[in-house]
Amino acid sequence: MSITNQSRENWGSRIGFILAAAGSAIGLGNIWKFPYIAGEHGGAAFIFIYLICIAVIGLPVLVAEVLIGRTGKKNPVGSFKKLSKSKIWSSVGAMGVIAGFLILSYYIVIAGWSLGYIVEAAKGTFYEFNQSNTSSAYFESLTQNTVWSIGFMILFLLLTMSFVYFGIQKGIERGSKIMMPVLLILLIISAIKGISLPGSEKGISFLLEPNWELVNGKSILVALGHAFFTLSLGMGAMMTYGSYLNKESNIFSSSLQIVFLDTLIALIAGVAIFTAVFATQQDPSAGPGLIFHTLPVVFTKMPGGYIFSILFFLLLSIAALTSAISLLEVVVSYFVDEKGWTRHSAVIVFGGVTFVIGIPSALSFNVLSDFHIFGLNFFDLADFLTSNLMLPLGGLLISIFVAWVWGFDKSLKELKLGAETLFDNYPIVITFWKIFVKYFAPILIFLVLLNSLGVL
Ligand code: TRP
Repeated sequence: MSITNQSRENWGSRIGFILAAAGSAIGLGNIWKFPYIAGEHGGAAFIFIYLICIAVIGLPVLVAEVLIGRTGKKNPVGSFKKLSKSKIWSSVGAMGVIAGFLILSYYIVIAGWSLGYIVEAAKGTFYEFNQSNTSSAYFESLTQNTVWSIGFMILFLLLTMSFVYFGIQKGIERGSKIMMPVLLILLIISAIKGISLPGSEKGISFLLEPNWELVNGKSILVALGHAFFTLSLGMGAMMTYGSYLNKESNIFSSSLQIVFLDTLIALIAGVAIFTAVFATQQDPSAGPGLIFHTLPVVFTKMPGGYIFSILFFLLLSIAALTSAISLLEVVVSYFVDEKGWTRHSAVIVFGGVTFVIGIPSALSFNVLSDFHIFGLNFFDLADFLTSNLMLPLGGLLISIFVAWVWGFDKSLKELKLGAETLFDNYPIVITFWKIFVKYFAPILIFLVLLNSLGVL
């Protein structure tokens, strides 16, 4: 049984869609991951490569996903079914739904830490740290505390579920319209604060002066993989959000704005974090612990650090929330469209299932830290399977589908709806879209995939 299109919700406004999709894109990837991988791979040089990947692969695949969604008007499985008879393609959608589950199950663990750190910041705990060692030991003791980590994980999951529960316009769109501007303002305040600290110039030059020596083949692949993760591509999240668009919407220019916002936020986060890290003489290459080990020490060393530490973890939690919402929406929309469930029961049941799958990820830092599958703990396995295998594979198949299976001409005809003036005035856009979606994207993604599998 499936629900008819008449009863399917649409976004209330163009800006509503852009903010919700940007909310999906902007998340832990921008604020937690991007700064530290840029730090590890040569700062400005890496950023340069990353920007090329975003333009050449990210944008075309984003357009392709939204287009499939708007045309199919369903969840990823249903949309593929509508556009192709072959089971192969609906199973690409099914892989997306499964990937959504898996990503959500470990994403809520880190997001839970972020919520927990708002409380730590408010308690003034960071002032007890005088150096990074104590800070990281404290972080470890928290993540090893099952009640703390699972408790905040549940809290975060319940927040995510509450937005999805109220549907597209009343839940996701309304939430994004409030949370995204707050996020942007908090981040800009943090960046201004960072720049105003004495010694912050070193942080800026770290981000602007390329260090090509740290760049190698691997950096290019890391940049490419991150382009996927940060834009929420490869598993149908953007397809699902696209399915709530009407035919008058201009997919191309909306996608451009989403990419622009995502990139802007990653860069401002880089400025906010590295100016503060350099001004307080902390280690910029602390890796994944940069945010949870290094920043708390940074806050204690800067004037007004108390309030900024609370604001920072608040903004990180908001960013994670709007992303988690999009992950849960993929799963929910599948059960609503394909299985005829109500939104409310889908949210409650699959929120519960996500919790169950999230537990082993949360326990990977304590009780289950020695439990390894293929040499990885549960958390790392879920991350590796999704970020390095399922998302690139999904993106590869999505670009092949649009350019070769559904066919370039047919997809272009759909893409033109709502974008007539743009394409008439700038026909060059069509040429670029053709080259990128037909050749560049599939070939380059294929290379990332080989690399993930250890072949390259
Ligand atoms: N883009 C988000 C981030 O940067 C993460 C995310 C949300 C995501 N939805 C996704 C990643 C779908 C891949 C696929 O944190």
